Amino acid sequence: MEAVGVVTAVGPGLTDRKVGDIVAYAGNPMGSYAEEQILPASVAVPVAPAVDYKIAASVLLKGMTAYVLLHRCFKVEAGHTVLVHAAAGGVGSLLCQWAKALGATVIGTVSTEEKASQAAEDGCHHVIIYTKVDFVAKVNEITSGKGVNVVYDSVGRDTFQGSLACLMSRGYMVSFGQSSGGPDPVPLSDLAPKSLFLTRPSLMHYTATREELLQAAGEVFANIASGVLRVRVNHTYPLSDASRVHADLEARKTSGSIVLIPDS
Ligand SMILES: NC(=O)c1ccc[n+]([C@@H]2O[C@H](COP(=O)([O-])OP(=O)(O)OC[C@H]3O[C@@H](n4cnc5c(N)ncnc54)[C@H](OP(=O)(O)O)[C@@H]3O)[C@@H](O)[C@H]2O)c1
Repeated sequence: MEAVGVVTAVGPGLTDRKVGDIVAYAGNPMGSYAEEQILPASVAVPVAPAVDYKIAASVLLKGMTAYVLLHRCFKVEAGHTVLVHAAAGGVGSLLCQWAKALGATVIGTVSTEEKASQAAEDGCHHVIIYTKVDFVAKVNEITSGKGVNVVYDSVGRDTFQGSLACLMSRGYMVSFGQSSGGPDPVPLSDLAPKSLFLTRPSLMHYTATREELLQAAGEVFANIASGVLRVRVNHTYPLSDASRVHADLEARKTSGSIVLIPDS
């Protein structure tokens, strides 16, 4: 559901995209594991010339997700404290870099020492190895019992309840994925003791109009070009090896972004 490519043909009447343009898309329709793809013109966004194509191919979906999470679901501002789970993951890494650039104090959780170094490089002020340390107790300690303004939780089942416990009064729980499985149902009354906000956003609802899509993609490419966001393309595989990539992802062997290159 994500790719960069060269426009080889356009439909009749289309004036703002032309043959030879470099464009990217992220989201529907499926079908990017291919050498060529027919796309509705409305989903193709221009790739800024300053952005390397492999970087562009690796970042749009994750980057727009990070943009929406930090600017639209909850607006991160200087002075906020944010908790990012899976801080060395594709989205997690961008969330940490961007939140730091916005002036927030960033706490990240990761599973290994190696990922902890990466999260620290990406701007986490505090990194918690949640496979070794109770992250709720550690966040409590870091924030002197105050809690964080927002949690960005893509891990789901393993972290969800702890994430609620890390929030300050009127904090925002942004649950945007479930890498460890879906969280158990939450009784509404669980939010009452701290008047918490809970949202389960999906990128496509925040990029539903052409204007929203161009805004989100433009912010991502602009922040890549200016150096605020750095993307690690730690793995490139031939497209014909796609099944091996999925096995490695499932086995948690990968970090950062993965780009599949079509066998030309
Ligand atoms: N809502 C939306 O619109 C939206 C958009 C994009 C992505 N997402 C979601 O965001 C999440 C992160 O995406 P991503 O592309 O950044 O993925 P990713 O790079 O693969 O990161 C996922 C990370 O989750 C952690 N994790 C914890 N428990 C896990 C488990 N049981 N199995 C596998 N990983 C586990 C791992 O980090 P540690 O080893 O450090 O624990 C892993 O590196 C995914 O759940 C994805 O579906 C949602």
